[in-house]
Amino acid sequence: MDAVHEHPALPASAQALVVTNQTVGPLYGERLVNTLKHRYSVVHTLELPDGEEHKNWQTLNLIFDALLQHGCDRKTVLFALGGGVVGDMTGFAAASYMRGVPFVQVPTTLLAQVDSSVGGKTGINHPLGKNMIGAFYQPRLVVCDLATLDTLPERELSAGLAEVIKYGPIADMEFMAWQEGAMEALRARDRAALAHAVRRSCEIKAWVVGQDERESGLRAILNFGHTFGHAIEAGMGYGVWLHGEAVGAGMVMAAELSMRMGLVDQAFVQRLRSLIARAGLPVKAPVLDAADNAGRYLELMRVDKKAESGEIRFVLIDGPGKAVLRAAPDALVRDVIDACC
Ligand code: NAD
Ligand code: GLY
Repeated sequence: MDAVHEHPALPASAQALVVTNQTVGPLYGERLVNTLKHRYSVVHTLELPDGEEHKNWQTLNLIFDALLQHGCDRKTVLFALGGGVVGDMTGFAAASYMRGVPFVQVPTTLLAQVDSSVGGKTGINHPLGKNMIGAFYQPRLVVCDLATLDTLPERELSAGLAEVIKYGPIADMEFMAWQEGAMEALRARDRAALAHAVRRSCEIKAWVVGQDERESGLRAILNFGHTFGHAIEAGMGYGVWLHGEAVGAGMVMAAELSMRMGLVDQAFVQRLRSLIARAGLPVKAPVLDAADNAGRYLELMRVDKKAESGEIRFVLIDGPGKAVLRAAPDALVRDVIDACC
């Protein structure tokens, strides 16, 4: 992070705004600002409230307030310093302020380093659905400093591992096998193991996004486990289950559905469940409604962005290492929910 100012991809401007939150700002804000001062005459900072429950219009507006109050012009560079919440909101602010200003991602969670900072999906939540308002808008640069992961709470590290795990079943079984051998090292924050996990995850994500930036097809596979997962996040109330935790349980449900659709065998589902559990993630999904749990899941999943005309489409594993997007009969989905909660 300390040499960011030397990077040739940094856009030229007089002003920069570092957007961070009340947790990450005190840890790394000064370091980033000091670096950027070598490159920009004026560097402003904005600390947002911390938490998924703040990923909304009200918080987004704080970024626009700061940009306007500081008289920022359309060359002003926004820096997102934090996890996926700060990154998604800052990116969306950059996409819309004066119809687009440059932005740079400086992800400080494992989840953000392996997934959310790469690929240009930006946005906020709506009370009725996760990430429902947003834009595709690419950062000019993504700066991953593995040292920032040293201060990450253990629960957040596990949440990030969910997004690392997803890349195996959808695209690269060798990567899944490597994770099976490296899970203890990853959880112990071994730098070499983390470096490989971040590099390989970003390679796979870039390979997918490079072919389908706007998610007209292939990119949807990156949402393995997310259809069930988003229902868990929204159903429990944003911030109660971490995004990665919901994806962890969601991947077990999606694998179970794949098995019931005849695409993978029980041994594969068990192998994936075991890896998810070893990452410190939940493998059992929560009950969202005691009276009609499956009905509540289905209701929430119909708001998913992959749904078409109210028909839910799931990312399923079509043999280990390959994913497909498919609809599934409600009765089968109900069985999976009953079995996994
Ligand atoms: P987060 O941004 O809420 O960060 C998790 C917690 O860790 C927060 O409390 C944060 O303040 C704290 N934190 C961040 N860095 C830290 C550090 N180095 N040391 C100590 N604490 C630190 O959550 P997240 O898991 O990074 O991101 C989840 C979000 O990302 C969700 O909103 C999800 O929808 C989104 N997401 C987006 C994409 C995408 O493609 N844009 C992909 C996956 C997830
Ligand atoms: N995290 C899913 C995607 O970027 O498409």
